[in-house]
Amino acid sequence: MNNFIFENDTKVYFGKGCVKEYLSSVLSHYGKTVMLAYGGGAIKKNGIYDEIVEALTAAEKTVVEFAGIMANPTYAKVLEGAARVREKGVDFILGVGGGSVMDCCKAVSLAARYEGDIWNDFWERAGIVDLEPLPLGFVVTVTGTGSECNGGAVITNEERKIKTGRDYPACNAKFAMLDPVYTMTVPLRQTVSGGFDILSHIMETYFSEPNEDNVSDNISEALMKSVIHNLREVIKNPKDYTARSNLMWAATMAENRIIKLGKRCDFQCHQMEHQLGAYTDCNHGEGLAVLHPVYYRHIYKDGLPKFIRFAENVWNIPREGMSDEELAKSGVESLAMFIAEIGLPTTLTELGITDEALLGKVADSCNIAPGSYKKMTAEEIRQILKESI
Ligand code: NZQ
Ligand code: ZN
Repeated sequence: MNNFIFENDTKVYFGKGCVKEYLSSVLSHYGKTVMLAYGGGAIKKNGIYDEIVEALTAAEKTVVEFAGIMANPTYAKVLEGAARVREKGVDFILGVGGGSVMDCCKAVSLAARYEGDIWNDFWERAGIVDLEPLPLGFVVTVTGTGSECNGGAVITNEERKIKTGRDYPACNAKFAMLDPVYTMTVPLRQTVSGGFDILSHIMETYFSEPNEDNVSDNISEALMKSVIHNLREVIKNPKDYTARSNLMWAATMAENRIIKLGKRCDFQCHQMEHQLGAYTDCNHGEGLAVLHPVYYRHIYKDGLPKFIRFAENVWNIPREGMSDEELAKSGVESLAMFIAEIGLPTTLTELGITDEALLGKVADSCNIAPGSYKKMTAEEIRQILKESI
């Protein structure tokens, strides 16, 4: 194992009924005025909003609403939230939703306490958080990003056409409540897309150095198998609590920093998808699903031992006379077949993206991840995007 320091400040409440049981009493530890932040209104249709308001009322909070956080949250929305916090004297932010709501809330918590331009000083480049962001807590309603247990916030600057994430541990939520029942109303398309995001986070961590035996890779293999199995189960029966709860915890496990300990991590696919999102506003998990197999066909020869492990341990492929390269490649093709099996898009065309000139801009503005098995160039990224059409 490589050296590491581990800390995670978020307290997790997990399971059926946890919000009803704990939210009101947990909120009593924080200030009077709570900003209730949420997305486009799904929580109003499925009853979650009412349960949250009940808990806020029981805790005798003054509630300030901050609604309409869009998928792929924008910097403009972050500034709107920060202005609301200042205007209303908000003491605590309660984000209810998925990655988009949680990420926006984290950025707001920083922006509300910072005098300068947070985009320039914290997202355009990595900054040093020498202030205490406004405290926040989350109720998760859709599974995927794992944003509930890290300081990461992915924000889109529409003017500059950049979608980028930074992970500031100071922005970790004080608590995260995960009731899998809350995810039962998530449409299957988003459930599958979020499920693939989990798998992507694990693969982006697993396919990186070190390659020698290590606990992180062993946990990652178990998690990947669990996500693959439970995605199949939830497609068969979207009301399957066991599958929903396993996926929900796997999402957190993938992004609560544990499997990243001692790992270099890659996240080149995420860099590509984020820029694709900046130009097209495509769905995060769906963009990743298209890009992953294409990217892995480009890099598997440079990470052969790990890709062989992936084929054997995750997809249970017997060697049966195959060469190392053939075996490694068969793991990548199993992944591609799984993506098609669960109904995710396999080409950018299916996402309505066919403009090669636009993909050139995506490639040119895409960060090169230092942890990839293969040294990437803008030219190769352009090629990967072209092959993804
Ligand atoms: O907006 P509403 O009406 O709430 O509907 C949402 C939204 O349309 C809906 N939804 C949420 N809970 C629901 C529900 N529908 C029915 N029943 C419920 N209980 O789900 C849709 C998607 O929500 P969103 O939050 O956008 O999805 P997700 O959780 O996938 O988040 C995506 C964002 O997170 C970023 C992505 O780039 C993207 O911007 N990421 C954040 C990461 C992090 N902070 O660690 C890591 C990821 O790699 C990712 O980049
Ligand atoms: Zn992701």
